[in-house]
Amino acid sequence: MKTILVTGGAGYIGSHTVHELVNQGYNIIVFDSLEKGHKNFLPDGVKFFQGDVGNIEDLNKVFSSNKIDAVIHFAGYIEAGESMVNPLKYFHNNSAKGITLIKAMNDNGVKNIMFSSTAAVYGNPKRVPITEDHETNPVNHYGASKLMLEKTLETSKVQGISSIFLRYFNAAGAGYGIGEKHNPETHLIPIILEVASGKRDHIKLFGTDYPTPDGTCVRDYIHVLDLASAHVQALKQLEKGKSGIYNVGTGKGYSVKEIINICRNVTGKNIKVVDEKRREGDPPVLVASSLKAQKELNWQPKYDINDIIKSAWEWHKKENIIN
Ligand code: UFG
Repeated sequence: MKTILVTGGAGYIGSHTVHELVNQGYNIIVFDSLEKGHKNFLPDGVKFFQGDVGNIEDLNKVFSSNKIDAVIHFAGYIEAGESMVNPLKYFHNNSAKGITLIKAMNDNGVKNIMFSSTAAVYGNPKRVPITEDHETNPVNHYGASKLMLEKTLETSKVQGISSIFLRYFNAAGAGYGIGEKHNPETHLIPIILEVASGKRDHIKLFGTDYPTPDGTCVRDYIHVLDLASAHVQALKQLEKGKSGIYNVGTGKGYSVKEIINICRNVTGKNIKVVDEKRREGDPPVLVASSLKAQKELNWQPKYDINDIIKSAWEWHKKENIIN
């Protein structure tokens, strides 16, 4: 049985992936600081180590006491908006600490890593849907901090490290009885659902003057369960020592206004919207071509935007005990 170390495995995408990997028969060790993660999101019986990916002693302890076949590195900060006001927080956590992890892996003879990268590495795309060979030119420091780790991993190939980068588009939805829960919450769909459930009065609409059909930003929302299954497929490639970059999205874009309307339909609630100015660092359109992942990883997204929002709403109601 293969043993996989999952950093950030108690986070939103990490914990869904851990459930999926356990179902596929992998032996999982979750390594998470619990600064953002939720230990109760993990399946029963999964080995857990509380530690920081920037702490070489913590890492050496885990690597030296387990035979680890591969690492999946989810741990990181994820807010594009916050990265514009606190870039050092992002470069320290996402880039510098990530390099510590790669060094610890290498020192301990672990040579395979899958890295949670992001659509934010592309910046304002010149062509949509975005293919993996599109130039990278991030417009927020979050994307830049992730790109820096991609580049470090690319150069680490000379030291025998194989790496797969999954560039996620907008993860959303819920599965395995767990869902999207950030503190503070800044993501579109959970915030809209908080308005629907009465936890918030309104949603702030960040920018209505973008060069898009209705003036609001367009994103490619992918069900977190589809993201989780992409990891399982990519792991099979990594186990063969293969490297690669894959966009993980659906190929369909929805504007912020469209998402609000779908949430109105799914929840049956009126959602109050207040127009605000643009949030710094938001590209107008991010939509994936995931044909490469479909072909090379033998992976297909199964869920559409209604499934995503329905699952998120069901989980939100259960979590907040709303009828
Ligand atoms: N938005 C609002 N109001 C809000 C929250 C968001 O109008 O209260 C808008 C944003 O301005 C943006 C869109 O909704 O146009 C989506 O915003 P999110 O914060 O939900 O997501 P982002 O697109 O900023 O970023 C997310 C993840 C990143 C990932 C990126 C990839 O947070 O980790 O998707 O596309 F890299």
